[in-house]
Amino acid sequence: MSGLYLTYILFFYILYSSEVLAMWPIPQSWLKGNESLKIFPSLDIKCTNIETAEELTQQIFEGAKNRFREFLVNEKYISPNVHFEVSENSLTLHSLNIEITGDKSSKLNLNTDESYELSIPYTSDENNKPLIAHLKASTIFGILHGLNTFTQLLYFSKEKKELFIPFAPHYIRDYPIFAHRGLLLDTSRNYYPVNDLLKMIDVMSWNKFNVFHWHVVDANSWPVKSEVYPELSEKGAYDPDTMIYTKEDIKTIVEFAHQRGIRVIPEFDMPGHTFAISYSMPEIITCPDVQPDWNNYSAAPPSGQMNPILPATYEFLNNLIPEMTSWFPDEFYHAGGDEVVMNCWKVTDSVTAYLKEHPNDTYETLLGMFINKLHSLVRKSGKTPITWQEMVVEHKLPLPKDVVVQVWTTEDNIKKVTGLGYRVIAGSADYWYLDCGHGGWVGDNPDGNSWCDPFKHWQRIYSYNPIKDLTKEEAKLVIGGETLLWSEQADPTNFETKLWPRASSAAEILWSGNYDENVNPRTTKEALPRLNDWRFRMVARGIRAEPLQPLWCVKNPGKCDLPPAFQH
Ligand code: ACM
Repeated sequence: MSGLYLTYILFFYILYSSEVLAMWPIPQSWLKGNESLKIFPSLDIKCTNIETAEELTQQIFEGAKNRFREFLVNEKYISPNVHFEVSENSLTLHSLNIEITGDKSSKLNLNTDESYELSIPYTSDENNKPLIAHLKASTIFGILHGLNTFTQLLYFSKEKKELFIPFAPHYIRDYPIFAHRGLLLDTSRNYYPVNDLLKMIDVMSWNKFNVFHWHVVDANSWPVKSEVYPELSEKGAYDPDTMIYTKEDIKTIVEFAHQRGIRVIPEFDMPGHTFAISYSMPEIITCPDVQPDWNNYSAAPPSGQMNPILPATYEFLNNLIPEMTSWFPDEFYHAGGDEVVMNCWKVTDSVTAYLKEHPNDTYETLLGMFINKLHSLVRKSGKTPITWQEMVVEHKLPLPKDVVVQVWTTEDNIKKVTGLGYRVIAGSADYWYLDCGHGGWVGDNPDGNSWCDPFKHWQRIYSYNPIKDLTKEEAKLVIGGETLLWSEQADPTNFETKLWPRASSAAEILWSGNYDENVNPRTTKEALPRLNDWRFRMVARGIRAEPLQPLWCVKNPGKCDLPPAFQH
């Protein structure tokens, strides 16, 4: 790009930078002008060096091109708050040239370079050459992000009935702040058909998430149809024929996600939250479904934990873990470790008898033995284990430092865990839990609130800083974060509304970071008009994203903000 051209767009940027465009998450660096540029749905799209790429990379490119074309042809998005029209003599964009400048493999992991550079010109060349946009990235996955960004620049003119790009020219240089940008969905409390998960993954990719943390099983149901232990879902799924995920389903989901730059990390939480196993293997589950005082044995009903001293437990792990790790190609595997309650083992005769015979052991050393065996099976499959924070914070297990720790309680635990030298995935319940605030789900409890009240609205989510108060060294250990939807009160009827656009709020913090390129904190004041526009675009794409404000406020950006006198 010539210096003259940069000066030209910088000039327009200074004049018009207050204008609103969806652009979510906001690019790290974005210069824009003030022209409207027409764009034909038949735009010529080519990748100059795609033939030299790995075959799967070529397929990923073809898929992305088709989805991009689909938006060009069908989206026809008219924004409630972008008021900019095509003029008679607007120029027209003729082609989009794409180039992968680095690794042309389809390998996707924590170290994948996801950056990209997009330039959309607006110069009427003397030679009347056609206008060409350029998208460059080191990997195919950067290209995917660039194409998603491009779709957010497409608006439909209400008057002229044609597609255009407002505020051209555009020059965008973009990259993520965090390498791990995840969304957790729990498919055990309530089941989601495969197509719902695919649709969610699509929306995730528009928001530049790159990890689907699939909390696939839990105490309530075991929907995975293992081939080694088919009885797990035959007896433990809500419906063994229709509410299951087969090996084929999982392959479909993993490949669909990979095509969109998203890794799927499965979680098989153990040893707690495992009651569903007792439907098929009651012998390895302790304190199953204690009633009515389940609260003494478990964080939630039904109670039940794996028995840490039985050979049968370890035989089960020896057979199941290699199968499940082989179905999910990602380098990470979430082995759980959430909310173990020692009371459960304390009322289990085989465990108490074992401790009598082994006076050097304690309930905690039994937990350590279980986790070490589980993690060594994960490592044997070539993967790195992820654990919930309890294993190192509450139970203080001396786990090796390759383990990644997911912090879900208060923010101060991030400092604690990075202080211990572990890599961290951040997602504190008091900011990033999407399930809170819908009242208690425990019955016979008219005044019950959700344990993590109140509702986490988008501005609260936006105010979360995963590396707050950390030293540089500690911050380096935070590989990213996840926003989470536990499904006690969510299922296919309402989960889209619970996810979007609040998950988008977390997505921007993870991709764009809490500070802009001039190190000014990003504000909800600046973000709101963009998020409103992005929410309406997602709705136009068939997503039931909930409204954030009355339409009047959307149409009048800034006019519904809290008056300065009330701000602190
Ligand atoms: C959790 O919410 N217990 C991870």
